[in-house]
Amino acid sequence: MPLDRARIRAAFTRAAVDYERSAVLQGQVGDLLLERLDRVREPPARVLDAGAGSGRLARLLKRRWPQAEVVALDLALGMLQQARRKGSWWRPLRCISGDAQALPFADASFDLLVSNLCLQWCDPHAVFREFRRVLRPSGWLLATSFGPDTLRELRAAWRAADAGAHVHVFLDLHDLGDAALAQGFVDPVLDVERFRLHYPDARTLMRELKGIGAGNALGERARGLTGRAAFARMLAAYECERVAQGLPASYEVIFVQAQAPQAGAPLRGPRGDLASFSLESMRRQLRREPR
Ligand SMILES: C[S@@+](CC[C@H](N)C(=O)[O-])C[C@H]1O[C@@H](n2cnc3c(N)ncnc32)[C@H](O)[C@@H]1O
Repeated sequence: MPLDRARIRAAFTRAAVDYERSAVLQGQVGDLLLERLDRVREPPARVLDAGAGSGRLARLLKRRWPQAEVVALDLALGMLQQARRKGSWWRPLRCISGDAQALPFADASFDLLVSNLCLQWCDPHAVFREFRRVLRPSGWLLATSFGPDTLRELRAAWRAADAGAHVHVFLDLHDLGDAALAQGFVDPVLDVERFRLHYPDARTLMRELKGIGAGNALGERARGLTGRAAFARMLAAYECERVAQGLPASYEVIFVQAQAPQAGAPLRGPRGDLASFSLESMRRQLRREPR
């Protein structure tokens, strides 16, 4: 579904000052992504964090590889201002405003590209094409995205209330893997981690989503006022999910690890070797107990 970029940029800029304090899940996913960096054996000279937000992950990357130049890129200027403010002079980050789907960098200019929970705001083909273009041959991509089970309770509650598009629909593991393959990434490995958070009520969940800039960014979202009656129906439908800890909100996080092709390797066709990829990815799916 088309996303409204101006709205995404404005929402994340508004959220920037308090983002790191509120984005607990995003921080935890960033830490899990860092653990997966053990596959990267050689210290990279240039690292890009695409959709870096206020730069938490970029700072951790700079701490891990102090000699590397770490670039934090984001669409939202407010986020980059925070990234600059939180950075230190002894471990400086390069903060650059830009779109992950049209990166302002030369071909083959990074050894490592990480991107934590930005993919779901982008067109997957455009973003993987750009990631592949700026990675040097055999450079590593490690990225995360939300999967389709994310916020499924909220989506279902709205569906019971009216016909509008209120909650972002997320791509699944296969679609992301296909997009990475189609843009030339080699043997992408994808796996899933599941989380379940609990909220006192649906209003609190929606306030928190808005507070971290993740409000409704659908280009074709239901414009105008959502009727009071529909909102009340949504709240009532969500209440049916209540458990002892509160109202659950599921999050499905997809981890993508892939390597750019070696120099001179041809691009695979858009179908790639999908059958073997899908089987492999299913085998590698990790399912953690809901937290
Ligand atoms: C959920 S936040 C994640 C921030 C950070 N990576 C983290 O780990 O907390 C998503 C970020 O992606 C940025 N973003 C969304 N679409 C983007 C795009 N097309 N290009 C660059 N950044 C984008 C947003 O501005 C926001 O800062």
